[in-house]
Amino acid sequence: MNRRTFLAAAAATTAAAKPAKLAVEGGTPVRQIPLKADFFGTQYYGEEETRELNDVVRTHRPFRWYGPGNEPPMKVATFEKELAQRMQTRYALAVTSGSAALQTAVAACGIGPGDEVILPAWTWHSCFAAIVLAGALPVFAEIDESFNIDPSDIESKITPQTRLIMAVHLQGNPADMDRILEIAGRRHIRVLEDCAQSVGASYKGRPVGSLADIGIYSLQINKTITSGEGGAVVTNDPMLFELASRYHDLGSLRPLHEKVAGGAKADTLAGSQFRMSEFTGGVLVAQLRKLDRIVADVRATARRIYDGIRDLPGIKLRHLPDPAGELGSAVFLGFDTKERCERFRTAMKAENVPVGHPGGSAILPIQPYIEHKRTVHPAWPSFTSERGRAIQYGAACCPRTLDILSRFAGPSLDPKFTERETTDIVAAIRKVHPEVMRA
Ligand SMILES: Cc1ncc(COP(=O)(O)O)c(C=O)c1O
Repeated sequence: MNRRTFLAAAAATTAAAKPAKLAVEGGTPVRQIPLKADFFGTQYYGEEETRELNDVVRTHRPFRWYGPGNEPPMKVATFEKELAQRMQTRYALAVTSGSAALQTAVAACGIGPGDEVILPAWTWHSCFAAIVLAGALPVFAEIDESFNIDPSDIESKITPQTRLIMAVHLQGNPADMDRILEIAGRRHIRVLEDCAQSVGASYKGRPVGSLADIGIYSLQINKTITSGEGGAVVTNDPMLFELASRYHDLGSLRPLHEKVAGGAKADTLAGSQFRMSEFTGGVLVAQLRKLDRIVADVRATARRIYDGIRDLPGIKLRHLPDPAGELGSAVFLGFDTKERCERFRTAMKAENVPVGHPGGSAILPIQPYIEHKRTVHPAWPSFTSERGRAIQYGAACCPRTLDILSRFAGPSLDPKFTERETTDIVAAIRKVHPEVMRA
């Protein structure tokens, strides 16, 4: 090596060792244009969905129970059969939305006035609404660093009136079902799994939704597979299935579901009307058959990010009760303070790899309508009992939830992110993390 090449090599080594100037300090950003994750299921729409929809138009059979022809239409029925197989449950019931599925599942569990239901302080409005609409009392438990309900906080919220625990698998991350089921089993309380944000995730090898008494899925546009709107209830219990089916269809049990349930055991009761149309069912048959591909793609995306950042000194990631079962729809980094997390967000935005606090849910106890216990009627049974009058929502009932969510942030992922895009995410995190961690 002559002197000139030695000096050039030395200069290159120094340049490589010197950290690149952060974009937030005037350096060149990792990307020229901001990275943005797209919806999942709709990116996989293709001729399969079109064929299913055309079928419904051609046969003039948009209603699931009957139409022209001798045989009943089969789109929704096929979706139910294949969903039960995929989720490893005995029964599946299609409904109009995840919110309708929650109301149906809560009704099937026989929840009503005087009962208490424990739910995480950070989840979607529909969870709270389903409890209130049943006339029962919602009781919040804190989340932990998985962003799911903290099993150790559940115990302290149980009273003799507690009838149900909502285990919500938030943002693709299965909740700690072993501990939740152990607590619930010991206290003879039912568990409902809300898998709206984790369709396709699993816990210790079993699909979420199949582990507890009853499970629900949302098939709205933000979810893993979608028909725009849609939902489903799954269970292994024939009685819960019959009651759910009745509740979703004005209290009656149609012949197909009577056969699936192995006969009718309950009487007609007042129910709602959450029946799914054949158009929706057709799209969902096509989407469900693509679920494993979508899950494999998004998990591969997440794996590339985890593998690229895991070795960063001092890195802290969201707690995953079962890393292999996670959907991988987002990767979250945690910091010791809110201020450091904000620095991370600002620096990543400048690199054109924006990261957000955990989203897709709301910190429910601080929503004004919840703090003020607003319902459609002043005599609503949820809040007229002694417990209902005494219970106080607001920030004071979920300090840990507020703290955790303010200290975590990360990029939303997309099953169709290219190698280039995941490399950019990794590069941006590796670039800003040492600076953000500096005191
Ligand atoms: C946790 C959770 N449960 C229930 C729902 C309700 O689903 P839908 O929007 O289909 O009514 C959502 C919707 O985002 C959700 O995130």
